[in-house]
Amino acid sequence: MKKNIAILLLIALAILGSTAFTHKPSSTAPSITDFSSMTLSLYGKRLVYFARVNKADDYHRRVYIDSAAAQLALQTGKIPVNALLVQETWENGVKTDVFIRIKKKDGQYTSGSFSPGRPDFSTSNDGGCNGCHMGAASTDVTFTAPLLTKALQRKATQTVSCNAESFHPCSATVYGGN
Ligand code: HEC
Repeated sequence: MKKNIAILLLIALAILGSTAFTHKPSSTAPSITDFSSMTLSLYGKRLVYFARVNKADDYHRRVYIDSAAAQLALQTGKIPVNALLVQETWENGVKTDVFIRIKKKDGQYTSGSFSPGRPDFSTSNDGGCNGCHMGAASTDVTFTAPLLTKALQRKATQTVSCNAESFHPCSATVYGGN
């Protein structure tokens, strides 16, 4: 008998518990942050445009992260595993190249590139890319990581400028943002 009462009590508790759950106000549900003002459909992906780096001459870089990674980066303050970083090179108003990096489980990145008209997201372990990017070792091997943090918090693309040429890095202060 006691056993039956215990079972009934458990069922009652379960029902109470589930109604309590379904009646939770929707405002307490985890919300997806809306980056719509900075999100674009590019190369068949949803990309959040988080940084623009203006360099010497009429040369600039536009940097994006895939939108799923952007959500996680906002929550954790870190670039998540599997994040796709995309960088476009613009010269004299023309987009010339697209470079990509994907973060791996061990914190390393694989790299790739393609021409704007022919998206190709295959990547490999490229020592040439990694070598220069080690200059940004303190910011997750990603020069623009501090700009990503600011852009996600402010929900606005961050623009910085320096007089370095093309691939040459600006100073860390510049990538720290405004
Ligand atoms: C000589 C240095 C150098 C080399 C080599 C280099 N990069 Fe970069 N990369 C940079 C700098 C500097 C930035 C930041 C934007 C800027 O200032 O132009 C950057 C930014 C990026 C970004 C945006 C995320 C970030 O780290 O800020 C991607 C993606 C990227 N590079 C991919 C590549 C790939 C792929 C290769 C190899 C094919 C490569 N890079 C080789 C210097 C380099």
